[in-house]
Amino acid sequence: MRPSPRPIICYRPLRPSDLEILEKIHGDLFPIRYESEFFKNVVNGCDIVSWAAVDRSQPSDQGDELVGFVTARVVLAKESEIGDMLSYDSSRSDQTLVYILTLGVVETYRNLGIASSLIREVIKYASSIPTCRAAYLHVISYNNPAIRLYSKMSFKCVRRLQGFYLINGQHYDSYLFIYYVNGCRPPCSPLELVTAVLRYMRNAFKSMSARLRRNEDRKVLKWAKCREARSLISTNQSRRNMAAECTGCECV
Ligand code: ACO
Repeated sequence: MRPSPRPIICYRPLRPSDLEILEKIHGDLFPIRYESEFFKNVVNGCDIVSWAAVDRSQPSDQGDELVGFVTARVVLAKESEIGDMLSYDSSRSDQTLVYILTLGVVETYRNLGIASSLIREVIKYASSIPTCRAAYLHVISYNNPAIRLYSKMSFKCVRRLQGFYLINGQHYDSYLFIYYVNGCRPPCSPLELVTAVLRYMRNAFKSMSARLRRNEDRKVLKWAKCREARSLISTNQSRRNMAAECTGCECV
């Protein structure tokens, strides 16, 4: 499909009328074949959430035609492979994650920011679920455009999984990308913990010595003022003594 000179891209959930084109685009974009059950579940919203990017500037017979999509599923953190990557207690039964299953944009509509917008929708969705701790996904290790896209969207690449994909009898590695939401962070490693303690101690020492220095400065200032006052008194005194000597009177 050719984009119009001024595409009008809108976002909405995938729906049953998208079934055929969704299956075709997946077939064109991905080296992995998905079962038709998967597409039915996507367009019917069974256990899968989705967003479609459609071009509304197309002539009416093609109007609202699918040009991009993202599909995702909410999973329990304790059943996922990234439980150890969360600062929260992932064994708590209510903790969830959003797993991005597929993302794609038809070739003629690429580099218009459509995939970025679809990812933003997923992040917004994940953030709106109070129990959700992160959105995550796998990407095949040679897919540079997708790797660049996720890095640009501030996803963190946390693992390389050897031979994760089996495509036409050949194994390929995958990268695991995570985007933390709702205040979740990666857990602290022992080294990070030691570094944090040392940083805390250094800052405490710095502020203590600054306080001591301030006190010391104040004392010096007081002492200087005292000395100044004393010398002023003695100067006045000697002046008076001199005057007394001259006049023959004694001043106290
Ligand atoms: N080469 C290098 N980087 C690219 C390219 C490219 N050809 N295309 C997009 N990017 C990166 C860039 O960092 C770009 O940022 P920039 O605009 O500052 O240069 C960023 O992606 C954002 O680009 P978008 O326009 O938002 O992305 P686009 O709509 O073009 O879609 C996508 C990118 C989804 C990767 C598209 O190329 C595609 O559909 N590829 C085939 C399917 C695929 O690989 N899907 C992802 C698999 S992983 C998964 O599904 C979980």
